Amino acid sequence: MADTALMDKLVSLCKRRGFVFQSSEIYGGLGSVWDYGPLGVELKKNVKDRWWRAMVHARDDIEGLDAAILMHPRVWEASGHVSGFADPLVDCRQCKNRFRADDPRIKGTAGQPDAQCPVCGSRGTLTEPRMFNLMFKTFMGPVEEQAAIVYLRPETAQGIYVNYLNVLQSSRQKIPFGIAQIGKAFRNEITPGNFIFRTREFEQMEMQFFVQPGTDVEWFERWREWRMQWHHALGLTPSKLRWQQHGPDELAHYARAAFDIEYQFPFGWQEIEGIHNRGDFDLGRHQQFSGKKLDYFDQAANARFLPYIVETSAGADRVALTLLVDAYREEEVEGETRVVLGLHPAIAPIKAGVFPLVKKDGMPEVATELYHDLRKQLPCFYDDSGAIGRRYRRMDEAGTPFGITVDGQTQSDRTVTVRHRDAMRQDRIGIDRLGSFLAERLAG
Ligand code: GAP
Repeated sequence: MADTALMDKLVSLCKRRGFVFQSSEIYGGLGSVWDYGPLGVELKKNVKDRWWRAMVHARDDIEGLDAAILMHPRVWEASGHVSGFADPLVDCRQCKNRFRADDPRIKGTAGQPDAQCPVCGSRGTLTEPRMFNLMFKTFMGPVEEQAAIVYLRPETAQGIYVNYLNVLQSSRQKIPFGIAQIGKAFRNEITPGNFIFRTREFEQMEMQFFVQPGTDVEWFERWREWRMQWHHALGLTPSKLRWQQHGPDELAHYARAAFDIEYQFPFGWQEIEGIHNRGDFDLGRHQQFSGKKLDYFDQAANARFLPYIVETSAGADRVALTLLVDAYREEEVEGETRVVLGLHPAIAPIKAGVFPLVKKDGMPEVATELYHDLRKQLPCFYDDSGAIGRRYRRMDEAGTPFGITVDGQTQSDRTVTVRHRDAMRQDRIGIDRLGSFLAERLAG
């Protein structure tokens, strides 16, 4: 059953602490478009940096790319998005609302007199289903005409396919090799929702791995394993991650095989990443539509072939939401509710809060100096307002793993207390050892 209370609490915490705000809020918001605040942008950046390190920097067989959002419109004909990236929709002629044809709230059969509009309740006012393309259109150049239409990309993958030869030749890679990209994608989703789970503007972290036909199944299995390991290493609850295989009737038009990594959200098991064996569909189509040869000559095997592609495709926003949902907890501490985001220290937006115990006896001066020193090494936050317990609670809600307090003893022996967010235990550490103490615990 959907735990809407938990999602409501999380949405409220995200706004209160500056993780996520509704887009254009002062104008009443824009449907399913969200902005990341000071903590949210750090959280999402940590997710993307970790992905980039694992996929590009830690490997010598994957290159990075940053292709433009706008692409030649023929790209989307070749990819199948112009003809196939559509959902069947019905309109209510009475109240003018629009629904997906498979909306479970519709009673009866859309287009028939018995069908009832789920919003205004009128009967017989729903149109026959019509296909509605999910790509956002805009115009390039000064004239708004059919010939000037360009699309906001609905996935980053196509930018990789059309650049595959450029990257291959300039990087002197050999197949098997991959190209990774992080970037915005746009979909005019009909049923968006669940906060940042399904939005109309989002970021993808996609990697396309080019392999010799016949080796694709083996690579597919390897990539499945590596990607699941990556999600586990984020510190997510293992029992809340699972595989979901696409059946033959669920496979996308390009896929020979597909598995989703799913997470158990408060609103049910949902996809956070897809691993697809795309065969030679993409390069074959771009070769056909562009008229440019995209095959590969393998000197060692003295063979020419069109590479197969194994794709890993994750949403940065979805991973960020997964981390927030997984980390959120409430505990009873000394008769009060403590709200904690138990984020993995490597993912937490702020790594340490720095506090003078009281605003006197030279403590603020020492704490400020310590804060400025630490800030060169990691994102920290200085807070001297309110009781120390309140300051710790604020950091708990932000997911900050360490609280460093300058107290009466600091002046005499140059030590501070380090409070651990989860156990609420405190260690006394020499200021000179603080940098290495934190670095050790933040690694990984
Ligand atoms: N290139 C393949 C592709 O785009 P997809 O399953 O449509 O496959 C991949 O999308 C990932 O992108 C999803 O697993 C999800 O994490 C993310 N994603 C897709 N649509 C999204 C949306 N409307 N809002 C947020 N994330 C989305």
